[in-house]
Amino acid sequence: MLEDTSFAIQPDRNPSQTPKHAYYQPGDLLDVQETEDGFRFVCNHAYVDLDLYRSDIVRVNMQPSTHKVTPINSRAVIQSASKDRFRMIKDKEAITLESSKCKVIIAKHPFQLKVINEQGTVMCQDNSKGMVFSQRGEVAAHKVMKPQDRIYGLGEKSGFLEKRGESLTMWNTDVYAPHNPETDPLYESIPYFMVVNKGEAYGVYFNNTYKTTFDFKTDSNNYTFSAEGGCLEYYIFAGPSPKDVIEQYTYLTGTMPIPPKWALGYHQSRYSYESEREVRDLVDTFKAKGIPLDAVYLDIHYMDGYRVFTFDPDRFPDPSRLVHDLKEAGVRVVPIVDPGVKKDVEYEIYKEGVQGDLFCKYLEGDIYFGDVWPGASAFPDFTDHHVRKWWGEKHRTYSDLGIEGIWNDMNEPAVFNESKTMDLNVMHKNDGTPLSHRSLHNIYGLLMGEATYESMKQQLDGKRPFILTRAGFSGVQRYAAVWTGDNRSFWEHLQMSIPMIMNLGLSGVAYAGADIGGFAHDTNGELLTRWMQVGAFTPYFRNHSAIGTVYQEPWQFGEDYEATIKSFIALRYKWMPQLYSLFNLAARQGLPVMRPLMLEFPEDAKTYQLNDEFMIGDNVIIAPILMPEVSERAVYLPEGQWVDYFSGEVYEGGKSHLIYATIDQLPLFIRQGSAIVLGNTGASMESSQNELTLHVYADEKSSYQVYMYDDDGETFQYEQGVYKEIKIDMKCLNNAVHLDVVHSQGDYVPPYDKLEVVVHGLKEEQDVYINGDKTRHHDIGDLSL
Ligand code: GLC
Repeated sequence: MLEDTSFAIQPDRNPSQTPKHAYYQPGDLLDVQETEDGFRFVCNHAYVDLDLYRSDIVRVNMQPSTHKVTPINSRAVIQSASKDRFRMIKDKEAITLESSKCKVIIAKHPFQLKVINEQGTVMCQDNSKGMVFSQRGEVAAHKVMKPQDRIYGLGEKSGFLEKRGESLTMWNTDVYAPHNPETDPLYESIPYFMVVNKGEAYGVYFNNTYKTTFDFKTDSNNYTFSAEGGCLEYYIFAGPSPKDVIEQYTYLTGTMPIPPKWALGYHQSRYSYESEREVRDLVDTFKAKGIPLDAVYLDIHYMDGYRVFTFDPDRFPDPSRLVHDLKEAGVRVVPIVDPGVKKDVEYEIYKEGVQGDLFCKYLEGDIYFGDVWPGASAFPDFTDHHVRKWWGEKHRTYSDLGIEGIWNDMNEPAVFNESKTMDLNVMHKNDGTPLSHRSLHNIYGLLMGEATYESMKQQLDGKRPFILTRAGFSGVQRYAAVWTGDNRSFWEHLQMSIPMIMNLGLSGVAYAGADIGGFAHDTNGELLTRWMQVGAFTPYFRNHSAIGTVYQEPWQFGEDYEATIKSFIALRYKWMPQLYSLFNLAARQGLPVMRPLMLEFPEDAKTYQLNDEFMIGDNVIIAPILMPEVSERAVYLPEGQWVDYFSGEVYEGGKSHLIYATIDQLPLFIRQGSAIVLGNTGASMESSQNELTLHVYADEKSSYQVYMYDDDGETFQYEQGVYKEIKIDMKCLNNAVHLDVVHSQGDYVPPYDKLEVVVHGLKEEQDVYINGDKTRHHDIGDLSL
């Protein structure tokens, strides 16, 4: 019938006639002006601001001169332009801006830029297409991709570690469908990447909250990053090493706070433990079996009809007693909090939200409703600070019960409809500058995280909160740990979780993990056991599974698997002092806890696409078994000598070895000529750190510095100097191993007053000296603190 009307000749029905969008470049440089923060390059069609955020961080911002683009506060950047200024050197064809760490060379005809690092290498460079905008608001930057360039970062992406040849999109999306290598986008948007070329690196953070695309695929010599709208505003990190780039990116967007120690222990979850009885029985079983446990999660069944900030009175009649009793047993309770608020006129939160004008609305004034677990629901407008405050306050429901951890889910936001999210025409209040959901979608989860973390911090009165989130944006690390969403109990998903968590770590999110055992689909004893071996060393360590799948607690698959799983959970606790020191480095410098080998060996090409091994810190390699019924694998060990942690056998680096690991074994290597600090094991975090041992892996010609950090593990007292930070210089010679405390700082008095020292691989002719004194028992001694 429509065909009988003018609809038949509607222009969009004939796409070939639709003109391509015209893109404009800035054009020729006309003038250079000094601005408050840097320099403005005025060109034919646009002007480009270049500012220094630090001597190694350059901000580029292009504004079309034909129309004004409103800058959007992404809330990701926490720094402002630095007081340091560029020095400007002008010559005929180009202008050079110089800082102490890098140079930006600007060609005038047409305007194009390239960045040179302190070593003189050309890093980020415009190609002939350069920076562009369309009258419709799209923006893009086209850059040269050198033949040896390798691409990392980009946050939470499936597929392999190195991303050259991929085109990836940032648009926070709830994906329950199986995560395949090409499944993109997922829940988090981190519009940042690092380019590594034979050991040298630079990074780019694209500060744009619209849907963005990073194309390293279409053109093998060039890459492009683009957005549907907003400014072409990006930051170039001058490196020159991959670690420098991470430090620069996390300087700009923030680092993670040090988590409470309990949040680093083993966590048990399921969708759902459906009643108080079930939760108590679960914890009792852990206790009876002597399996360490620090937290249990309450998934959506704890709520009354999936109404956030309520408890189902039949299933959870006395949450206060439950939380209290579990805490007595050393176990925290972490409830899920989703953003969707059930449309129910008798429900307090809904009423408050409507009456207080706190929900996301259309420009015309109607509240946006979308279906999630509770049915039709309204969504708090977290872009408004009143709403963040209100939402935060509501967490007293939990903090008053003694709850210290919150699990944020469905905060892309997820909606059960075709688009999987909110109507893009919703207008957010955006702290006084109203903008569409299309432009702010990607930061909804980040702002929910901010609301949750900041309020919990206040309510816990000096204790550290723990927040877990599914969705986020650059800067999410300031508020929450990230888990990689709804994976499946497939071996492929165990394999995929490793590069995924490593790239999150390279993208500022040091505190991340996957659902261990797999969320959807049924796991089995072998898969769960192998996954636990990996999980014991991933920064975030939680076993979680979906409704309708087989139960996957450590004991579900028989005594043999149980014993192995228990031993690896215990190993996590034993390694906690080492991990906790690394978490402190993540908090201070942004460096990830779990690292790709590339980060430590950026000149070793064999590490560039190494997906099935990872490092913990700078001296430990883990090469798990990731296939069923396999008990040997090739393990690549980079230069140096590597000691098998369990057997003590020494392997020559710079090549691969065939390593055997039956189901109860994990290939784990320590670099010879380095050391680690381990604890004893306990039932939970608190009890595992009373005695510490410094394990030294001696050789005859090395030096290393051991970094150790500790504090009370639960308060912010460390901000007042109540922590212990120790640096021990280790020097191995032909005839001696010297251990000298070269730095000891802070007022924290740990429960231990010394480190027991055990030297592995010590030669007959080598003596050990601790702070100058020879040890009494050749390879064993004490290092007093
Ligand atoms: C989502 C989450 C999952 C959770 C479930 C029920 O699928 O990703 O972890 O268990 O919702 O809340």
